[in-house]
Amino acid sequence: MAGRIPALVLGGSGYVAGELLRLISLHPHLELAGVMSDSQAGQPLRHAFPHLQGGAGSQRFAAREELLGRFSPGRLALFSAAPHGASAELIAGMIRHGEAAGSELTIVDVSADFRFADADAYAKVYRHPHGAPELLDRFACALPEHLPGTPRPFVGHPGCFSTAMLLAAVPLLSLGLAGSDLHAVGITGSTGSGRSPGSGTHHPERHSNLYAYQPLRHRHAPEVVGICARLTGARPALHFVPHSGPFARGIYLTLQTRLARPAGEDTVREQIAGFYAGQPFVEVVDGMPRIKAVAGSNYANIGVSCDGEQLAVMVVIDNLVKGAAGGAMQWMNRLLGWPEETGLTAPALGWT
Ligand SMILES: NC(=O)c1ccc[n+]([C@@H]2O[C@H](COP(=O)([O-])OP(=O)(O)OC[C@H]3O[C@@H](n4cnc5c(N)ncnc54)[C@H](OP(=O)(O)O)[C@@H]3O)[C@@H](O)[C@H]2O)c1
Repeated sequence: MAGRIPALVLGGSGYVAGELLRLISLHPHLELAGVMSDSQAGQPLRHAFPHLQGGAGSQRFAAREELLGRFSPGRLALFSAAPHGASAELIAGMIRHGEAAGSELTIVDVSADFRFADADAYAKVYRHPHGAPELLDRFACALPEHLPGTPRPFVGHPGCFSTAMLLAAVPLLSLGLAGSDLHAVGITGSTGSGRSPGSGTHHPERHSNLYAYQPLRHRHAPEVVGICARLTGARPALHFVPHSGPFARGIYLTLQTRLARPAGEDTVREQIAGFYAGQPFVEVVDGMPRIKAVAGSNYANIGVSCDGEQLAVMVVIDNLVKGAAGGAMQWMNRLLGWPEETGLTAPALGWT
């Protein structure tokens, strides 16, 4: 379609890639130019994503070499939803190829590969060397609500649990409300684990069940602390206990801290609401937020409870949208000069 910017997606048949394809099909200024898949090359997109109806699923997955043939001179939007450890190297190859093809690439990576400021910090958490350390200072990593403008040409989007934690932690730290320790308990839906089945995601295990995993050891905690430090100058002690929940989409996260100074609930709620004033996707709600109010959408709802000394902030998001593909699209919109909410304002599903 004339005037649209071609979009390429890496991470082919994965859940986040599927969500990116859905969002691209709804976007008024982007046009899908190719989706890379090793396992599904040549298959129609609907083979992996039967829900991409109405023409969105009629294109075919492309092998890597075929995808390289889709590069064109001029602006090109590249989303990576490849696994961490693979994404950085893949992106580096795409940048080299794009330069040779005369493409002007704008890149948002949803994997963990560009969430740390330096390669050593990445290697310490992920236990393998970074795939493209020379690219680290070309990527910013933050939520669009927390970093104005376009400070770097490319963006690494924070992870899904990280999105929920940052939505609670960054205002508390920026406003001087939080004590030195942050305690976060989060519950994620099964799509958070990706498409490959595992013992923790198998239906009989997951359905009607609830269990913690990697308590106090999850890789998102150091990512969130690093991002908070870069954004606010504060380096909190973050104690994070993630859980697997019995639903497919959504995250419910509660972040608790002792207030830095005593304050009433209304005051704290107003301060957090003021912090997010003008942000189209984040709302501080009365009462407690609920996953079904945001599932399937790019919206985040925040609830606040405070007894004068202890503060609890409850955040709900859709892990695949606000926590991944939607947040990435928000950044892509900004990097390409469009209103941030372009193609993203569809309301939540209500009943999933
Ligand atoms: N799920 C979430 O809620 C969520 C939220 C935030 C961020 N993320 C991040 O987003 C990325 C995708 O997550 P996901 O849940 O969609 O995972 P997923 O369902 O496991 O999909 C990842 C896909 O990447 C492709 N792939 C596998 N190995 C690859 C390699 N070496 N090089 C290139 N592509 C490869 C595979 O597709 P093909 O076989 O078709 O090539 C695979 O299906 C991950 O980095 C994840 O950490 C996920």
